[in-house]
Amino acid sequence: EESLAAIAEMPKLELHLHHEGAAPPSFIRGLAKEKGLNLDGVFRSDGSYAFSGFEHFLSVYEAATTVLKTPEDYHRLTVALLEESASNGVIYTESFLSPDFCGGGDLGAWREYLAAIREAAELCERDIGITLRGIVTCVRHFGPDKAKKAARCAAETAGDFITGYGMGGDENRGSLKDFAYSFDMAREAGLQLTVHAGEWRGPREVAEAVDDLRVSRIGHGVRAAEDPALMDRLAENGICLEVCPGSNVALGVYHRLEAHPIETLRDRGVPITVSTDDPPFFHTTMRDEYVSLARTFGWQAEDFARLNATALAHAFCDEVTRDAIA
Ligand code: ADE
Ligand code: ZN
Repeated sequence: EESLAAIAEMPKLELHLHHEGAAPPSFIRGLAKEKGLNLDGVFRSDGSYAFSGFEHFLSVYEAATTVLKTPEDYHRLTVALLEESASNGVIYTESFLSPDFCGGGDLGAWREYLAAIREAAELCERDIGITLRGIVTCVRHFGPDKAKKAARCAAETAGDFITGYGMGGDENRGSLKDFAYSFDMAREAGLQLTVHAGEWRGPREVAEAVDDLRVSRIGHGVRAAEDPALMDRLAENGICLEVCPGSNVALGVYHRLEAHPIETLRDRGVPITVSTDDPPFFHTTMRDEYVSLARTFGWQAEDFARLNATALAHAFCDEVTRDAIA
């Protein structure tokens, strides 16, 4: 249908993409082969990533990252993921970069990985017209001490490219309060903040993200839809949700897209955006996300234009960049 094709081709902004999680299986397999590394259990016989359930997903994700060993590997990964995003109509993306995977939290090593990623991003901006900004991200199940190291890496490299600090990983472990020190350090360095919350745990976790970590955006946050008063708070305070519908369905947060609360959140006034999270893991792309939302909820071009306007308003970038992508 004509309007669906037009929606699929719209320029798109994405705020929630994990750098390693955007690595195609063929890319990871190729690196493993070059380096003679074994990746037992990471792939199915059809070549896709093999996992069932969230914890298994996290362990397969971490196993795949073990082949990413040098700044040059991250340079190649960055070009590959930006080419894929651009081919889906993405003009601006923010990716989660983890010092834990890029040098193990060592600041000197982190600077080298970051330089390689930036160089690749600048090439892609010039040649294929996609802009990248980086959110330094700690991993919740690695614990608060590693999060502090990541926050130090973030604070030391904050600027026009590293614009945010965040946390992913296993939401079912530990308490957000344990990470307040890291988020305070990042805020004091001028970084904007986001945290994965309300993907697995309920609305209280989302409230804690706002109260204890003082974030301006939340990764997923979809379970806020179970608490109308919390939705009103998010709406009043302009806290933006990075909603990843395909990820939620692939990991079983909701059994199918029809059951996803994205419209409940939006219609209550919560600022919502749409992203892919880890596209090759979840067999999705930004184009697929748009088409699925249009098919399932009957969304029209104006609904997607509104998503993009929200993403632009909440993007972790400076005003010059915002004007350039508007
Ligand atoms: N890391 C990569 N994808 C993630 C997700 N969906 N939730 C938490 N941590 C992640
Ligand atoms: Zn995520």
